[in-house]
Amino acid sequence: MDKQPRQHKPKNLLVTGGAGFIGSHVVQRWVTGHPEVNVVNLDALTYAGNLTNLTAVEHADNYTFVKADIRDGAAVSKILREHKIDTVIHLAAESHVDRSIDGPMEFLDTNIMGTATLLHACREYWKDTAEGYAGKLFYHVSTDEVYGSLGAEGLFTEQTSYDPRSPYSASKAASDHIVRAWFHTYGFPVVLSNCSNNYGAYQFPEKLLPLFIHNIASEKPLPVYGEGINVRDWLWVEDHAAAIEVILRGGGLGETYNIGGENEWRNIDLIRTLCRIMDGRLGRAPGTSEKLISFVEDRAGHDMRYAIDAAKLRDDLGWRPSITFEEGLEKTVDWYLANSDWLKEVTSGDYRSYYARQYGDR
Ligand code: NAD
Ligand code: DAU
Repeated sequence: MDKQPRQHKPKNLLVTGGAGFIGSHVVQRWVTGHPEVNVVNLDALTYAGNLTNLTAVEHADNYTFVKADIRDGAAVSKILREHKIDTVIHLAAESHVDRSIDGPMEFLDTNIMGTATLLHACREYWKDTAEGYAGKLFYHVSTDEVYGSLGAEGLFTEQTSYDPRSPYSASKAASDHIVRAWFHTYGFPVVLSNCSNNYGAYQFPEKLLPLFIHNIASEKPLPVYGEGINVRDWLWVEDHAAAIEVILRGGGLGETYNIGGENEWRNIDLIRTLCRIMDGRLGRAPGTSEKLISFVEDRAGHDMRYAIDAAKLRDDLGWRPSITFEEGLEKTVDWYLANSDWLKEVTSGDYRSYYARQYGDR
């Protein structure tokens, strides 16, 4: 099997989960940056998927939205054939760790069976086309959480053994293995990436940064799990979308690339920094927002530290983050403060947040 760098050129691109956080940035990037590519967004519109994330491109000639579930093989097959899909960027998933602890089965079903169903449908379609797998690519978007938890030292590389700890990360690890099995068994053309924590616009307000920005603005408590000493490596979501394009075009078939920001923060330090920025933006006296910090029971099985070695992506494909964390965090805060209508809209459906269930509507 060819593992050499290539120049993949999609014509008809299917993005799954394109109405979610990262997916909406990926869709916007391809629709606006590549008018020669037809972009089809397949999304089930769960609580985490919102078409308001895509108003900027909804009328573009090269954009189509289709509401469908990746677990529905017949629907997926029809979409692949109707739109002559040659390239898939697969992001659709249940993605929030706390929810996976509360309700693991949906995660296993969507992330494992959904991925397998999608792969199977793609193979059934692509293998029987005149050119077979030539010009085809299945890109699987995954997480650094598959590698487990680091101590104080070391970084995750592409060689790190898998050691997932939560139902979410175990389901993503299983999906990674299934994608690789299709490559090794069928010669099916895949590429994978495992990325660290993303932040930026359009992130559903259950994840740390948008939840805390919202809580600070509305003077609600900030529930810091455990002692707040867990470490995450933060990457601006648009830099993730850029990395996905670089890997899609030039990554070796069957290869995996780690993506990260070389930007480690202990949760409590990140939260204090956020509080300082928010005090400034909201015209509050320094120290006001920090008073909202409330240490709560730790997340079950809380991974201590994630940190990515992105040397392969940097050295082989030349990708680097485009902005500093300071710039990205300020842009992010400003976006959420300017888009309180978006927040109301995405939380208006049949949705009760993890925060509200745990801590009440205080
Ligand atoms: P998200 O929860 O914001 O969005 C997920 C999207 O998938 C939503 O639009 C949802 O409607 C859709 N979806 C869910 N189940 C579906 C189904 N059965 N059929 C079709 N669509 C379905 O997630 P995100 O944070 O944007 O993450 C996207 C992908 O990137 C996931 O695969 C996740 O594991 C991976 N990832 C996320 C991060 C991160 O920091 N957020 C980091 C690394 C990797
Ligand atoms: O590392 C990549 C992963 O990053 C992705 O695969 C996941 O989809 C994404 O959700 C994210 O997972 P985390 O669990 O790291 O993200 P979250 O925003 O939920 O939490 C970040 C850290 O903050 C984590 O250590 C838990 C802590 N936390 C989180 C919340 C929501 C709190 O202390 N309090 C909170 O209320």
